[in-house]
Amino acid sequence: MSAPVRPDREATAQRLLRSSLDHSYEPSIDIDWDAPLVEGKWGMPQHRSSLYGTDLWDGLTEEQRRTLTVHEVCSVARIGLWFEMILMQMLLRYSYDRDPRTQHIQYALTEIADECRHSIMFAKMTERYGVPDYAPTALTHNLGRLFKTIGYGPAMFAGTLFVEEILDQFQRESMRDESVQPLSRMVNKIHVTEEARHVRYAKEELARIMPKTSRAQRAIGQYLSARIAYVVARNLIHPDVYTSVGIDPKVGRKAALANPHWQESLRWSARKLVPFLREQKIIGGPAEFLWRKAYLV
Ligand SMILES: [Fe+2]
Ligand SMILES: [Fe+2]
Repeated sequence: MSAPVRPDREATAQRLLRSSLDHSYEPSIDIDWDAPLVEGKWGMPQHRSSLYGTDLWDGLTEEQRRTLTVHEVCSVARIGLWFEMILMQMLLRYSYDRDPRTQHIQYALTEIADECRHSIMFAKMTERYGVPDYAPTALTHNLGRLFKTIGYGPAMFAGTLFVEEILDQFQRESMRDESVQPLSRMVNKIHVTEEARHVRYAKEELARIMPKTSRAQRAIGQYLSARIAYVVARNLIHPDVYTSVGIDPKVGRKAALANPHWQESLRWSARKLVPFLREQKIIGGPAEFLWRKAYLV
């Protein structure tokens, strides 16, 4: 099977390939993994903590709050890593069916290579911070297994865009924040730089395929994208992170979900993507309640 070669698609891929040559990192080398952590710095900006502004937050010492943000940044990276593994597999299946001479597929392969380095980088960061592996729950893990085996088309590109965009917003803010640990900032900077290309790739491809999508396919795409968005938003912060500061995971999670600051952070992270997904008719239809339930719209 071979996809028809389209000039606009090829031009985009060519630009992205050129940019990959100019601005790529090798985190194993480009990050000083042995550098000491800096006293008094945060894992991520404190106002993005899931407990920020709650009574539980008020009950923590400054030191505990910092500890919590280190665990939270590793939890966010872990869900990113989980999705990157799904994405690598989807992109590989996508490429398997298409003409590798096209720039479009050569870029898909380049993106797999980027994601592979990112996953190692996120894993190394967690290792360096000495934080547990905040792997998603068994149910999420197995939903991911299903999606990476069958995901394609609208849901593949929209789901990818969603994960890439919300992580981008959190990381972009964090990389500029001087109160944050240099390790987090460097990891975020690398990820933001390389993900900008992935976002472009997915956005343009989604815009190309949606007008040709049937009503039934669109409905499936809407449902699956909403499901992914909901699952990712709910799993961004693993309940066990609260144990690191002596808070019962159930109590911490309940407080986070009810926390208006945290709900606002979720909406803030999706604010730029939502209008685009609406325009593409990915958000809409009966599945929209999931977006709302996840505090994303
Ligand atoms: Fe990535
Ligand atoms: Fe990506």
